[in-house]
Amino acid sequence: MSASAPGKVILCGEHAVVYGHPAIAVPVTSVAARATVKGRRVAGTEIVTPDLDEQWLIDERPDHPLSTLTERTLRTLGHGDKQALRITLESTIPIASGMGSGAAIAAALVRGLGRYFAAELDPALVSRLVYESERHYHGTPSGIDNSVVSYGRPIWFQRSPDGAAPRIEPLPLAESWTLVIGDTGLRAPTRLTVGAVRERRTRDPQGYDALFAAIGQAVATIRQRLLSGAVAGIGPLLDQNHHYLQAIGVSTPELDRLVLAARAAGATGAKLSGGGGGGIMLATANAAAAPAVARALRAAGAARVIVTEVAAAGSGSVLV
Ligand code: PMV
Repeated sequence: MSASAPGKVILCGEHAVVYGHPAIAVPVTSVAARATVKGRRVAGTEIVTPDLDEQWLIDERPDHPLSTLTERTLRTLGHGDKQALRITLESTIPIASGMGSGAAIAAALVRGLGRYFAAELDPALVSRLVYESERHYHGTPSGIDNSVVSYGRPIWFQRSPDGAAPRIEPLPLAESWTLVIGDTGLRAPTRLTVGAVRERRTRDPQGYDALFAAIGQAVATIRQRLLSGAVAGIGPLLDQNHHYLQAIGVSTPELDRLVLAARAAGATGAKLSGGGGGGIMLATANAAAAPAVARALRAAGAARVIVTEVAAAGSGSVLV
């Protein structure tokens, strides 16, 4: 029995989202994590990760986040007693690149176990279990990754000011569109870029808050366009969002080079995505122009390029 979960990117609103403004994240279905769950003859539940060449019994490594998640999921499913299972986890999602690989592996594992026991789990429950697991890795994850990979849908995400649960709404897109993602190949931990922005903001709170508010405005307009079928109109707003991210100091020459190359090759809009300081950028393009944008990104030095379609609502679930 197997189940998958997609990667994700933040389409717009990163960094401002830390200060209470909205962000939109979308699934990246051309990469995925997959969990295959099978019974085995001997007792004990084993996790196998062929990509990492690792294999362990959850009783032997009870503190491993994936062991804890497996135990918790089995309990939630009412099968907490000793099991004899082999869970194989594979993923094509680049790791540590802001594409949600940890959350997707966790979501695939939870859904795979659900399917093995003939339970199609509610995305909200999958998301909650993944969030609890992500806390092991990240301390206080924002909740974006677990939401978008568990729903397999674009989501609107906004933290509540009083520390209560964030507002998370799946966004039913009016039309599908193509996204081209370029990876600089450089890694910058999100924790560090978020910390650096916080530090700079203490020196210029008004300037930074105005930029965050402007990002929030752009995100709200992008949402309207996505919902009303005016997707072609989001490009200039993504460009604007990139400009604001440059102003808060999270872009780099490598990211700017890829953003400019994408625009020059016919992208309708381009921006860095996620924490910045390295990492990835994204561009929107009509389907005909996407191959040229992908080529231009490779020529401009992208270590990896991923092209994906963000599906309209009603075009079937991306969760298989
Ligand atoms: O690239 P990611 O998925 O780590 O995105 C980071 C997004 C930030 O807004 C910069 C941080 C956050 O916690 O929301």
